[in-house]
Amino acid sequence: MAVTIKSEREIQLMREAGKILAEVHEKLAEMIAPGITTWDIDRKGEELIRSADCIPSFKGYQGYPASICVSINDEVVHGIPSREHRLFEGDIVSLDAGVIYQGYQSDAARTHGVGKIDPEAQRLMDVTKESFYRGIRYARAGCHLYQISAAIQSYVEENGFSVVRDLVGHGIGREMHEDPQIPNFRPKLRRGIRLRPGMTLAIEPMVNAGGYEVWMLEDDWTIVTQDGMKSAHYENTVLITEGDPEILSLL
Ligand code: MF3
Ligand code: CO
Repeated sequence: MAVTIKSEREIQLMREAGKILAEVHEKLAEMIAPGITTWDIDRKGEELIRSADCIPSFKGYQGYPASICVSINDEVVHGIPSREHRLFEGDIVSLDAGVIYQGYQSDAARTHGVGKIDPEAQRLMDVTKESFYRGIRYARAGCHLYQISAAIQSYVEENGFSVVRDLVGHGIGREMHEDPQIPNFRPKLRRGIRLRPGMTLAIEPMVNAGGYEVWMLEDDWTIVTQDGMKSAHYENTVLITEGDPEILSLL
């Protein structure tokens, strides 16, 4: 599929979707505390999304059973909410959510500490978030896509962490996953497409404290680090403009 350029009308709807999603994330952040279950987070998330006249895009996507992906510690992404999974002091937890507003999608993820966490876990979360900002320095018309990828990878590796190779960011619009794929590492022999105003991209570094290798659990969804070390995720839906990128899923 070709990379789509959004019209002003489509961009307006994606702005609205992004704003709603940002608010959902802010409200979910407030409930993060030792003792709650990942099920509680999903229930609240779905309620917030639907009460804003949106559809939770993840629910039923390729059979995924919930509205919010909740991934704890060594879980990288796509953790399935469960009444059995409780947050404990010292955990880090990634929440990934997507909404559809009047046919247009937004996708964003945040990682939170639960209660008091150790400094290295905090550093992992900080580096992951900052790597997104390093990446979007190149989310500009005329830049090549993999300049974003390279900037994310360099920053993460300078800080002694690794970027996941098996999962990537993506274009987004009417569909959650559109072209182009956006790796968080630089493919050696290619520069990627040239960015143009009106492209909308979900840029989502997934950063492991240890090695980059991951595998999938028997539930066919949950991705975990092979070495059992922690992983963090940070994602926003971003619009390429004539000037600075616009982060649609932040308030
Ligand atoms: N947010 C994820 C992504 O960026 C998608 C979640 S998979 C789902 O690709 F099944 F939960 F929807
Ligand atoms: Co995404």
